[in-house]
Amino acid sequence: MEKSEVLGWLSQVEHPGKEDKNIVALGLVRDVAIEDGRITVTLAFPRQPDPLKQYIAGAARAAIYRNAPGGTEVEVKTVVKEPSKTAPKHQEFTLEQLREVSNIIGIASGKGGVGKSTVAVNLAVALARLGYKVGLVDADVYGPSVPTMTATEDAVIEMEGEDEEHSLFVPIEKYGVKWLSVGHVSQAGQALIWRGPMASSALKQIILQTKWGPLDFLLIDMPPGTGDIHISLVGDIPMTGAVIVTTPQNVALADVLRGVNMFRNPQVNKPILGLVENMAWFTPAAHPQEKYYIFGQGGGEKMAHDLDIPFLGRIPLVQDIMEGAEKGEPIAMGSRPDSLAFLQIAQEIADKSL
Ligand SMILES: Nc1ncnc2c1ncn2[C@@H]1O[C@H](COP(=O)(O)OP(=O)(O)O)[C@@H](O)[C@H]1O
Ligand SMILES: [Mg+2]
Repeated sequence: MEKSEVLGWLSQVEHPGKEDKNIVALGLVRDVAIEDGRITVTLAFPRQPDPLKQYIAGAARAAIYRNAPGGTEVEVKTVVKEPSKTAPKHQEFTLEQLREVSNIIGIASGKGGVGKSTVAVNLAVALARLGYKVGLVDADVYGPSVPTMTATEDAVIEMEGEDEEHSLFVPIEKYGVKWLSVGHVSQAGQALIWRGPMASSALKQIILQTKWGPLDFLLIDMPPGTGDIHISLVGDIPMTGAVIVTTPQNVALADVLRGVNMFRNPQVNKPILGLVENMAWFTPAAHPQEKYYIFGQGGGEKMAHDLDIPFLGRIPLVQDIMEGAEKGEPIAMGSRPDSLAFLQIAQEIADKSL
């Protein structure tokens, strides 16, 4: 017995609902297996339940019994066809919710741990203190830290809109800033959005499916590094510019260069607003007058010069900044010298953007 023979027998079975069409021509025969005098046929039906399934399976079995040598065992299995993979059902994102946002600024770094989130959160607060309308998206899928840094871990993100497909996230308002983190959204039983085919589309969703309203600045705390997620994000979100955060070490130059190139690549071509040097020096709480340049002095400024990008300023390594981050009370709220450093950089960014 040959497969083609069995298919020939099956092509005598007509589909009662379709004139002059046999089940082979209709593509209902998914598989024919022949083994040791046993024939197994699998029929795939487009929908469940199919009222004709039993009838067609019976007719197929009968056609084989009629033609096959005596003693052949016959099994006809039925399955339901999966929906076509070429047309996945997923939502189209539009830029509608960013319509009233004047500046979208990516806060990036070549690698993690340089204080990118600390700088992003404090710059958001500082821009708000300068009188601008500000939002911040924490897009760091690897380690969202904005909920902790703003003490909003327990906040429940509200959804607004008629139905699930068209509803919008409502960002959390605190310290004069609208915050939304992948951390907020993945808690709160809303992990459903992370089912998307890739994290990058989930990220686009929290940026594009959020009710931002009118904003002067939307800061995006990008994930560390320069991989696919970044390129997709930079390509699909209409960023107006980027701020790169680094520590002063020489070794950071290669990382910073990768970060810069991500925005300078000809397809993206977004301006780099400048470089922020974080942890520029260490000042112990007990000796506020002293500056220890533990990672070397002037590294950030030299990097900015070498890469031909503006130098926006320095932030020292001080205990208050770390404690503020841990308590969820960004230091840029206060009036200490370190708070003023953030206000100055925020002013520089505003001057370069507006
Ligand atoms: N200028 C600073 N002074 C003191 N601690 C800092 C400073 N910048 C960052 N940190 C601390 O360093 C750690 C990493 O900072 P974070 O902003 O989370 O980095 P990144 O987002 O680049 O991974 C945090 O514990 C943060 O509180
Ligand atoms: Mg971070």
